[in-house]
Amino acid sequence: MATNPIPRFPDGFLWGVSTSAHQIEGAASLRERSVWDAFTERPGRVKDGSTAAVACDHYHRYREDVALLADLGVDAYRFSVSWPRVNSPGGLDFYDRLVDELCAAGVRPVPTLFHWDLPVALDWLERDTASRFAAYVALVADRLGDRVGTWITLNEPAEHTLLGHALGAHAPGKALLFDALPVAHHQLLAHGLAVRALRASGATDIGIANSHAPAWPASGEPADLEAAEFYDVLLNRTFADPLLLGRYPDGVGELMPGDVDADLKVIAEPLDWYGINYYAPTRVGAPQGAEIEFGGLTLPAGLPFSVRTIEGRPVTDFGWPVVPEGLTELLTGFRARYGDRLPPVVITENGCSYDGLDDQERITYLDGHIRALHEALAAGVDVRGYFVWSLLDNFEWAEGYARRFGLVHVDFDTRTRTPKASYHWYREVLRAQGARG
Ligand code: NOJ
Repeated sequence: MATNPIPRFPDGFLWGVSTSAHQIEGAASLRERSVWDAFTERPGRVKDGSTAAVACDHYHRYREDVALLADLGVDAYRFSVSWPRVNSPGGLDFYDRLVDELCAAGVRPVPTLFHWDLPVALDWLERDTASRFAAYVALVADRLGDRVGTWITLNEPAEHTLLGHALGAHAPGKALLFDALPVAHHQLLAHGLAVRALRASGATDIGIANSHAPAWPASGEPADLEAAEFYDVLLNRTFADPLLLGRYPDGVGELMPGDVDADLKVIAEPLDWYGINYYAPTRVGAPQGAEIEFGGLTLPAGLPFSVRTIEGRPVTDFGWPVVPEGLTELLTGFRARYGDRLPPVVITENGCSYDGLDDQERITYLDGHIRALHEALAAGVDVRGYFVWSLLDNFEWAEGYARRFGLVHVDFDTRTRTPKASYHWYREVLRAQGARG
């Protein structure tokens, strides 16, 4: 762990932590079913056979969790609102209570309106899901808008498209490969309609949380460069260009359904800030014509690229490489590509999975990434906030409870919370930075 103090971030910089509803809430019987409930019930889909029926039981223990946030001293807490819960009688009451508790503790609530737990009756392949989403968003804004100023529409539409609909590794478990692209378009359209609904309710601080990572070519050979470019277009630019430039990358728009030009006008509704979830870059090379094991996934043969980890780096328990300078590169690259079309940036997720209470590796990871973020700032990128993923160990999707991303350890037998070394470390960082605490 580095001992030099982390350089000072600007006054007003927003320091936070993130979670999501399905990963922590539990209380599954008090809400409608989501695609994730259906998926986890299918044998073999979640590696440890677990479900999120109870998870961290945050639904019943939210007061304890807000007390942990207050003690940590964060300015803001990013959580998600569960659409299936809002659809259920009394569901919105829970978020009312949570928001009240956060406000009383002086922590800014930052809700994400969709973090992958789609009501089971809905399907992102259907265009209609976008307008249904906007109607649900209007309902939530109407109820919470008097206390919530900052909103996030979607979490990682790229991962939800890729893992959930192209590869089938996440809910709803569809393996459509490139036929999954309409799922991306309908989510982006849902985002744009949600921005309009939020603006109509008076909201003035709206962003999205998109996953982005540099695609590092395996070599300077044309086949590797071409594959890395393809990967970058598919996973970065297909999700950023429509929002920031009002167009899809060349060759992508033709694959999208409906009146794409008209939809792009909705999708490109101006944002107040752009959220980025960053974990690690990916090494991308020419296709290998064989299945690839990568980051807990099995990628089918026949893709127009191959992927592997970054060589010679420490890896997390998940096997993800630790590459802090990838964050600086990503942000300066965004600034170069999008120029003044890029609104202020917020890092809406960054973190790592490691076991143990004395999690020095997590401290090293976070320390390195916060410094890398400061370098991006020094290089002229307008970065306004940073959120650690995650407050609590939680249900890590297809990995079940095996991957622990929390600053706070959760015993999944007793649901006891125990702050880890990284929690105490982050608290000191926040104090030194003059955050709320
Ligand atoms: C991305 C997702 O938004 C979050 O739900 C997940 O737990 C983390 N990254 C770690 O994989």
